[in-house]
Amino acid sequence: MLLSSLVALSATFSTAHAVTVYGQIPLAQTATPTDPAAPVATTLAAYNRTLLNPPPVPNPLPGTAYELPLQRDAAAASGISIPHVGGGFWGFSIEMSVISQVLGKNSSLLQVPFLNLMANLQERAGGVVIRLGGNTQEFAVMVPELEDGRTFGKTDSGSTQTTKTPAVLYTIDMFYMANNISSMLNVKWFCGIPFNDSTNWRLTIAEEAQNILGDNLLALQAGNEPDFYVEFKRRLAPYEPADYANEVQNLIEVMDNNPRIINKNMLLGPSIASANWQPYQVWETGFIDRFKDRMYAFTVEHYPDNNCAAQFNTGDVHKNPQDVFPNYLDHQKVVDLVFPYYESTALSTAAGRPFFMFETNTASCGGFAGVSDSYGAALWAMDYGFQMAWANFTHGMLHVGGQNVFYNPFTAPPTNQSSYNQWTVGSIYYSTIVLAEAFGKTNTSRIVDLTSTAGSIYTPSYAIYENDVLDKVALFNYVDDNTGASNLQVTLTVPNGGTPGSVRVKYLEADSVASKDNITWAGQTLGNQLEVDGRFRGELNVTTVDCAATGCVIPVPAPGFALVFFNTAAEQISIGQATQTFATSAHTKSHNTATIASAVLATSNGHSGMSRDGFGSTSVGSVSAGVESARLRAGVLVLGLMAGGAVYLARALMR
Ligand SMILES: *[C@@H]1O[C@H](CO)[C@@H](O)[C@H](O)[C@H]1NC(C)=O
Ligand SMILES: *[C@@H]1O[C@H](CO)[C@@H](O)[C@H](O)[C@H]1NC(C)=O
Ligand SMILES: *[C@@H]1O[C@H](CO)[C@@H](O)[C@H](O)[C@H]1NC(C)=O
Ligand SMILES: *[C@@H]1O[C@H](CO)[C@@H](O)[C@H](O)[C@H]1NC(C)=O
Ligand SMILES: *[C@@H]1O[C@H](CO)[C@@H](O)[C@H](O)[C@H]1NC(C)=O
Ligand SMILES: *[C@@H]1O[C@H](CO)[C@@H](O)[C@H](O)[C@H]1NC(C)=O
Ligand SMILES: *[C@@H]1O[C@H](CO)[C@@H](O)[C@H](O)[C@H]1NC(C)=O
Ligand SMILES: *[C@@H]1O[C@H](CO)[C@@H](O)[C@H](O)[C@H]1NC(C)=O
Ligand SMILES: *[C@@H]1O[C@H](CO)[C@@H](O)[C@H](O)[C@H]1NC(C)=O
Repeated sequence: MLLSSLVALSATFSTAHAVTVYGQIPLAQTATPTDPAAPVATTLAAYNRTLLNPPPVPNPLPGTAYELPLQRDAAAASGISIPHVGGGFWGFSIEMSVISQVLGKNSSLLQVPFLNLMANLQERAGGVVIRLGGNTQEFAVMVPELEDGRTFGKTDSGSTQTTKTPAVLYTIDMFYMANNISSMLNVKWFCGIPFNDSTNWRLTIAEEAQNILGDNLLALQAGNEPDFYVEFKRRLAPYEPADYANEVQNLIEVMDNNPRIINKNMLLGPSIASANWQPYQVWETGFIDRFKDRMYAFTVEHYPDNNCAAQFNTGDVHKNPQDVFPNYLDHQKVVDLVFPYYESTALSTAAGRPFFMFETNTASCGGFAGVSDSYGAALWAMDYGFQMAWANFTHGMLHVGGQNVFYNPFTAPPTNQSSYNQWTVGSIYYSTIVLAEAFGKTNTSRIVDLTSTAGSIYTPSYAIYENDVLDKVALFNYVDDNTGASNLQVTLTVPNGGTPGSVRVKYLEADSVASKDNITWAGQTLGNQLEVDGRFRGELNVTTVDCAATGCVIPVPAPGFALVFFNTAAEQISIGQATQTFATSAHTKSHNTATIASAVLATSNGHSGMSRDGFGSTSVGSVSAGVESARLRAGVLVLGLMAGGAVYLARALMR
């Protein structure tokens, strides 16, 4: 069945409660199911089962019962952020070389679990933003056609590249794929202009993305992590921020003379990894004033750590995941991660442009086994997202790599298991759901970090205001303690009789910060490894907490996360599984609730991250943080332009 008819189907049934779009062909399932209990015949990182030990309970343990005073009105909430637009704070950055694994083979064979995962976000936030790009965009080339109706292929990118990634070949169908997705779901896209050659610009992607995607294209990235260009042998040293800015200038002139590029003012930059250059060094070139009229947003990319020694066997000492795990369970680390950008978000918003964290995740070069897909990482990604939103970032994009990375928010199954297995959702996908709910779709959500008011680095908290009134509170407990002794009892109080009669609470729960399995959001789960079809399962469980005049006492388990709804009429409270779902087949397999047509995936390129066809082995994220942390700190000292409240919080939490 072709998409034109699918779209018609979905339109026909749009008033029905649960619309099922029969998306993938063929509908008949012929593969013989293999024993579902059989062990996964792969050790690819995306399915790695490493379970770490939770870090020990902090000694001394900060207080577990405390009062968190709140302000009813945003005007009284000091340090509150700018209003956030709908569309979800967290979007996704899909490495160009793995688009096919994630979105589908071509515009008529889209991946249904992916559509379901996006539908869940749309229902909560009104839409989703997705960046198609990454390191592999730099050498990407559009070709007239590829064998077997494929939209993506690869070729040797030659010796100029050091990231061991093949050059991506794509056909014009990539834009139809994206647009077909946008015709079913409110997904908006970012694409990237290749920057490997700034003399002979390859602008096909700008031309076709604008012509085919129209309003579904939000912007075009001008350069990806230019501060790595010398290291990656894409430019000869010296290559400084001023050189990059001049290339952007040149790109703009070439675009101005290209009649096929209709919109000349939708660029994104500088997208530095904040490793070899710091943002202020780019701003010192006059970048913002010079280009603000040409920019859709200003952008950076950054990962807090890297696992490059292991990924590339560089000979450097491998980092032990157990040793880095506590770094992800500590609010101070999150504050430190965002602190270097306060000046940037201020300059950007003053110039009337949003500021994005255009690519990030737990660690570049694939993340860490046992860390990146743990419940602890889900707590971290919520804290990090809230922290960036508080510091006036408008979006963050969680990077999606191939099957050889640990950090994916979602991963398609290895091809030869697709007849009996399904997708895998990484814990951080739940974080995107929680933030989508927390910020909703009114375009008025403002957030304030309350951690310096009460709690500790192990128990951060935020308040979210909508239409300038207290709407939600987010409470974290990073401590892992199954004795119950570290469970929190947080008393929320609102002055002047503002405490409501009751509040509703949704919990993101798992047994331990190390858990990968049985993660639930308000009682529902997407399923464990290789069980996911993109739909939530189980009964929605929203707790009601009655309040006294002295406040509302919210329990938060150790570990745990609670989203407290003050507005008990909020639409988000009742959202569980999205009402619009996409199913693939009339046949239902024995152990999964929906199916992927095996013939479809069998011919797709999801085979193996390390395998000869190479599609999965490409996304390693950027080489960042780690080595550069000293320089980064020096950069922080130079900034010195932070708003008072922000500095207060950062210092108050500094250890
Ligand atoms: C999981 O990943 C770790 C770290 O790369 C590795 O040492 C371990 O062998 C992997 N486990 C499997 C079963 O492949
Ligand atoms: C840039 O990438 C294209 C496509 O992969 C390749 O043909 C071209 O030689 C590259 N140019 C430079 C200067 O690296
Ligand atoms: C997508 O691939 C299928 C199977 O190979 C093919 O039949 C179909 O024509 C392709 N669609 C497009 C738009 O290329
Ligand atoms: C969907 O993709 C097909 C090509 O397979 C294209 O003809 C059609 O225009 C696309 N639909 C949308 C809404 O982009
Ligand atoms: C965010 O923007 C608001 C409004 O301009 C400002 O008051 C606040 O200090 C900013 N936050 C940070 C962390 O810079
Ligand atoms: C899947 O493919 C891998 C690599 O080609 C192979 O080692 C494995 O045995 C296959 N598994 C099944 C169930 O066919
Ligand atoms: C929020 O902003 C988006 C994008 O500008 C717009 O489409 C939507 O209608 C707005 N929502 C409300 C409730 O104003
Ligand atoms: C997940 O939950 C199921 C059903 O309650 C249970 O059988 C299973 O042991 C749990 N898995 C883990 C790793 O706790
Ligand atoms: C709902 O969630 C709360 C909080 O985790 C839990 O105490 C309660 O048992 C759950 N109720 C059901 C019916 O699962």
